[in-house]
Parts: sequence; C-alpha cells; structure tokens
Amino acid sequence: MIRDFETADAEAVSAALHEEELPHPVTPPGVLHWRDAQPERARARMWVAEDEGRMVGWAEARLRWTTKAAGIGDLWAYVVPAARGREIGQGLYEETERHLRAVGALVLESWTYTRGGERLLALRGFRAGTRLTAGPGPHGHVDARGPRGQERSGGLPCRAAR
Ligand SMILES: CC(C)(COP(=O)(O)OP(=O)(O)OC[C@H]1O[C@@H](n2cnc3c(N)ncnc32)[C@H](O)[C@@H]1OP(=O)(O)O)[C@@H](O)C(=O)NCCC(=O)NCCS
Repeated sequence: MIRDFETADAEAVSAALHEEELPHPVTPPGVLHWRDAQPERARARMWVAEDEGRMVGWAEARLRWTTKAAGIGDLWAYVVPAARGREIGQGLYEETERHLRAVGALVLESWTYTRGGERLLALRGFRAGTRLTAGPGPHGHVDARGPRGQERSGGLPCRAAR
C-alpha cells in the first residue's frame, strides 16, 4: 500500500534507508528536515510503501527551487532490498511523477545506483550521462547531465533528466 508520508513514519523510513550501504543514509530528523525545510513553492511531498505493516519503500518529490530554471522536478524512490522486483518502486515512482506533473514540472530529474533504478528510469524516458567506475553502489556511479544536457551534476551518484 502506498500512502502519503506522516511524521510518525520518520523512524521507519530512516531504518529502511539504512538496510544497505548506500549513498542516502538519512536519519529520522533528516527525513523530517527535508520535508520541513522546503519552501512552499517546492510543492514537496513524500510517500511510503507498506507491506503487511512493514515499511518497505519511500519516495520524495519536489520542484527544484534553487535554480532560475522553471519546471524542474526532482524525484527519488527507494525500496528495501528484500522487497525489490515486486513493482513497489514503480508504484512509488508513479506517485512522484503524477504529483510533479500536476504542479507544473516540465523536466524530471533523478539518480540511481542500482540496475533496477537504471531500468526503471530508462523505461520512463530518462537519459543518463557519463558512467563512472568509482562509487559505493555495485554498478558504480553514473554521472548526469542537467535538464538541457549541458551541466554535469558532479557530486550526485546518478541523475537523469528527460
Ligand atoms: C529503483 C528501485 C526503487 C526499484 O524498486 P523495485 O520495487 O525493485 O522496482 P519494480 O519492481 O517496480 O521494477 C521497476 C522496473 O525495474 C525492473 N527491475 C527491477 N529490479 C531490477 C534488476 N535488479 N535488474 C533489472 N531490472 C530490474 C523491473 O523489471 C521493472 O521493469 P519493468 O517495468 O520492465 O518490469 C530500487 O531498485 C531501489 O530502491 N534502488 C535504490 C534507490 C534508487 O536508485 N532509486 C532511483 C529510482 S527513482
């Protein structure tokens, strides 16, 4: 079941994000800070996926507000390793895209370090930039280009835009 994130979910979301070594180990206060620090114009929203009462996934989406470029949507979904391959990531992704389109996103950006993430994004029209060999994920980092294909994201493991 996918539903909107609530404050009481922060602990479980953080625990889910710590189930593997990965580049996004956010603490419970960090999860809440992400939500609470966004300005209204970001139209930020988070979702959780539960399976028999257990938190198995999480997603976040917002409009990027730190750039002059209009309509850039930023999204990310995460599913705990044991629950992958059961279309939970797809469901979370669909919530993010639906929301971002509804609030005016013209370009979507994301990043990944898993084969599933590459496949999920590629199937939905995302384009990745240069593949790098170093990084914490099993497939290395994938660098990314910005929405107009000219800027590289540098620090982010992988971002793709369409
Ligand atoms: C990306 C992620 C959320 C996918 O979650 P998931 O629940 O396993 O994904 P789904 O079961 O919905 O599958 C989505 C697609 O990826 C494919 N896929 C999933 N795991 C895969 C794998 N290990 N290898 C290849 N393809 C895979 C599925 O077949 C599906 O494609 P389809 O629509 O052609 O069937 C998950 O791998 C994850 O948490 N990765 C780390 C976070 C991340 O990188 N997020 C970025 C995406 S926004």
